[in-house]
Amino acid sequence: MPRLAIVGAIMLWLSACSAPVPKPASAEAVVNVYSGRHYDSDALLYKRFEEQSGIRVRVLEAPGPQLLERLKAEGAASAADLIITSDAGNLFQLKAADLLQPIQVPALEAAIPAHLRDADGEWFGLSKRARVIAFAKSDAAAAQVKTYAELGSPRFKGRVCVRSSINVYNLSLLAAMISRDGADAAQKWAGAVRANFAREPEGSDTDQIKAVAAGACSLAIVNHYYWVRMLSSKDPAEREAAAKVQLIFPDQAGAGTHVNISGAGVARNAPHKANAEAMLKFLISKEAQTAFAELNDEFPVRAGVPAAGAVQALGSFKESDLPLNALGANQAQAQAIFDAVGWR
Ligand SMILES: [Fe+2]
Repeated sequence: MPRLAIVGAIMLWLSACSAPVPKPASAEAVVNVYSGRHYDSDALLYKRFEEQSGIRVRVLEAPGPQLLERLKAEGAASAADLIITSDAGNLFQLKAADLLQPIQVPALEAAIPAHLRDADGEWFGLSKRARVIAFAKSDAAAAQVKTYAELGSPRFKGRVCVRSSINVYNLSLLAAMISRDGADAAQKWAGAVRANFAREPEGSDTDQIKAVAAGACSLAIVNHYYWVRMLSSKDPAEREAAAKVQLIFPDQAGAGTHVNISGAGVARNAPHKANAEAMLKFLISKEAQTAFAELNDEFPVRAGVPAAGAVQALGSFKESDLPLNALGANQAQAQAIFDAVGWR
């Protein structure tokens, strides 16, 4: 089904749900959301939450790093109630800057697996993404790859495309390796992959997939949803490119594929804390999780909620159960390693 049709179907479905309207959770029926995400689906979810709760959602959107700077600058005067962003690395940085507060909501703890939320209750995973390997279907050797380690194999010299090490996705991937295998092993891997680069890192994950399709390289590291989105893109060139590429979930015989999250936490000085908690509970509800899955091509964190059809078609996979807090803790070291091996 084309994406617009899916959006329409879900809007209809959301408006057809007839849950009772509870009383607003705080005297002022408002929640101020600072979001590092920018998806139409999020707006639909906010609207549904407004209808269900009677709490008005005010949204400020900015990319993750800018959000952090803004919140730091606003300090105790910040109007932020709920902070939503992608990648556990960003959430860790918010926590480290003391911009989040711990909350205890049993419904959240029950619905979200422990490794996908902060042990202190300062942030919670809402949806999941897998950092996978994209390969050119036309390259028989690349199609055999099963592990991240093989990206550093000498047989793929000049055949690997990746984005810059400044990007939090790659920082989190390397941070996970540091946690599991130690800094020396992580540096060895990064150096070996660096030696196989087809070109200096440039562009987004989508650009890496396009480079694989165009034959500039045979292998790339990308988040799964970029390829899924290209499959049903409005742009025929993107659909054509996606058709030349396939994804594999790495490390199935080992620790499992690296996963990350989009997540949220209650702001340190939230003026409407109860409303922020109510919204978090809504975002983890079955209906919100279903909408997340259908509209963003991410995996729901709540058990029993199926992924979107095109995502399910990738098959089931073993994911790493490394607590995501470790990713943030190792990020500075990950950046130092990337710099040391000249990843750029
Ligand atoms: Fe992304």
